[in-house]
Amino acid sequence: MDDRIIGNNRIAWFEIVVMVCFCAVFLCACGNYQPSGADRMQVGVAYYDQSDTFLSQMIECLKGQFEALETEELEVTVMIREAAGSQRVQDDQVKELIDAGCNVLCVNLVDRADPSEIIDLAREYNVPIIFFNREPVAEDMLQWERLYYVGADAEQSGIMQGELAAGAIQAGRQIDRNKDGKIQYVVLEGEPGHQDAIIRTESAVNTLKQKGVSLEKLSCGIANWNRAQAQNRMMQMISQHQNRIELVLANNDDMALGAIDAYKKLNVTESAIPAFFGIDGTDVGLKAVADGLMSATVYNDKEGQSAEIAKLAAALITGTGMEKIKFENQRYIYLPYKKVTGSNVKEYHKEEET
Ligand code: GAL
Ligand code: CA
Repeated sequence: MDDRIIGNNRIAWFEIVVMVCFCAVFLCACGNYQPSGADRMQVGVAYYDQSDTFLSQMIECLKGQFEALETEELEVTVMIREAAGSQRVQDDQVKELIDAGCNVLCVNLVDRADPSEIIDLAREYNVPIIFFNREPVAEDMLQWERLYYVGADAEQSGIMQGELAAGAIQAGRQIDRNKDGKIQYVVLEGEPGHQDAIIRTESAVNTLKQKGVSLEKLSCGIANWNRAQAQNRMMQMISQHQNRIELVLANNDDMALGAIDAYKKLNVTESAIPAFFGIDGTDVGLKAVADGLMSATVYNDKEGQSAEIAKLAAALITGTGMEKIKFENQRYIYLPYKKVTGSNVKEYHKEEET
């Protein structure tokens, strides 16, 4: 009888030891998996396409900004995923980032009108999202209170591009080549539905008109921010309008460069080459301004935007510093654009000095 009790007790003790070990292993596993709070920032960055010149430069900046946040008190890790232009791929990547333990997400949506799946996931796991560069529509930003946006005001970039073009035209830079008092122009547009495409075009053209420039629109082509596509569109436009094109307004630098490529490829004589205006101030764009191939560009402040994203992410994780961030409309941060011409390009394109 005694033996049986002792035997049963032994079995009970054995079970307890097994249970304790099991719990310990389980807790350790959870410890690795769950965000531990203020001292650990695990950032998940998801962006739409690595072939985009501006975006890939911005991601580099962002990485640098996050690395600079690391201190003895704050451990920072960054995981980056690019979606090759597919929203479904991005949805899966965001799930993977959350499963890997990310406690803040920076998302550059593929389809700015389709963020619901990502928002639902983030809300389920209580991981805040900082959207950037591709602005979700206002109703979607209202889906949850831990959603933020960092970017720039599209209208401002268009106005600046229009002012730069008007300035060059009115300074008598021979842009009106046929001297008919009008500027024959074409537009190269970014992705349809992107906040930086239609708005930039409209505000650039309206600004030129307001400044008293008479315009004649010859053509408009969509080239999805892409240099090779812009080259193709431009070749078609040149064959349609021959030497009549006097001005090319491009929604970004890469497309302005594609237009320049088209003229080079067709070996058009210097005197028949129009003036090109871009937006972004990418390294290649700034170089083209410095070399006098592109008349001017508008600087899309990737450094400023990245710094604000990193600051906001840190504030969301540590719970301090939120009061120092200047929001518009409560959860939006917009950085100003800046005009870049041949006379100030050196301030931006530092490599040119060496
Ligand atoms: C714009 C930028 C483009 C392209 C686009 C992608 O702000 O000017 O070059 O990068 O974002 O969303
Ligand atoms: Ca003319």
